[in-house]
Amino acid sequence: MKSIQSNIKKAKKYLDNNHCVAVPTETVYGLAANAYSNSAVKKIFALKKRPLNNPLIVHYYDIQRLKEDCDINDNLVKLYKKFSPGPITYVLKLKNNSKISKFVTNNKKSIAVRFPKHKLLRNLLKNLDYPVAAPSANISSRLSSVKPSDVKEEFGSKIKYILNGGKSKIGVESTILNLLEKPSLLRYGGLDKKKIENVLKKKLLIKTNSKKKLSPGLFPLHYSPGIPLRVNVAKPKKDEAYLLIKKRKSKLKNYYYLSKMKNIDEAAKNLYSTLRKIKNDGFKKIAVEKIPNKGLGKTINDRLKRASKY
Ligand code: TXA
Ligand code: MG
Repeated sequence: MKSIQSNIKKAKKYLDNNHCVAVPTETVYGLAANAYSNSAVKKIFALKKRPLNNPLIVHYYDIQRLKEDCDINDNLVKLYKKFSPGPITYVLKLKNNSKISKFVTNNKKSIAVRFPKHKLLRNLLKNLDYPVAAPSANISSRLSSVKPSDVKEEFGSKIKYILNGGKSKIGVESTILNLLEKPSLLRYGGLDKKKIENVLKKKLLIKTNSKKKLSPGLFPLHYSPGIPLRVNVAKPKKDEAYLLIKKRKSKLKNYYYLSKMKNIDEAAKNLYSTLRKIKNDGFKKIAVEKIPNKGLGKTINDRLKRASKY
């Protein structure tokens, strides 16, 4: 317990001094910095090699603190009560007098916010005088990190501090909703779209391929292990790693599986770490078996489709 507290203190110290710190969340690791500080936020973009026109998600401790920066609406309150803290991000209207750095939002009047659930990060956020901007902790267009060693693989010694919170429980990024107008889905993620529709009592508009590029994270190539990948493959080629949804008896060296029993949540949790492992094991190509398009299967398929643009 003592060492946890001292780690949180360390992370706070770096953040207070406008440095970037990698933080654990229930979805994926984030690369965090003070969202009120221009110089801190600019460091995130530089480290990730991220284009400045791709806005960041800001992470808050609770809705009380959010009210200082954003206008609250009924849909937000409904969804917040049910799902936050948790793997859902809301796009809202920024208040005119908000202190959020203009680099977070690409100078726009809207902002994406979320309330992460991981205990360590909540503890840290509670102790800060500002919210943190935190994109996924990976070089732009690459695989997100789900554990500290992934973050090290991405950034080496360029990051001052990694707050170690073990492996992320959900393993894929948050589901993003636009609540500025009629609720719409901007990114499939760790919260099943159906659950959101049940609370709103209506269907979400699907804007995950929006031409307007409202969510530039949805640029074609994304979530890539850095080698070619193809999907819906029934028979892999000899030189391909074969990624399966369910474990098979076969002991073939190129077979990798996402879950033991075809459990889709388990598969999502293991997606990025397994793709990373395949690459690190030296394979030059990946073939993926057909993944059921239900629940978080939709999120897995979305990520694989984008990774296949490599
Ligand atoms: O689970 C997550 O959401 C993780 C953890 C660290 O919280 N974060 C994450 O951030 O996935 P990032 O930056 O990798 O993806 C954020 C996505 C990007 O596609 C970005 O374009 C979109 O959110 N986004 C950010 N601000 C937006 C806004 N104001 N309107 C629409 N989309 C926005
Ligand atoms: Mg990302």
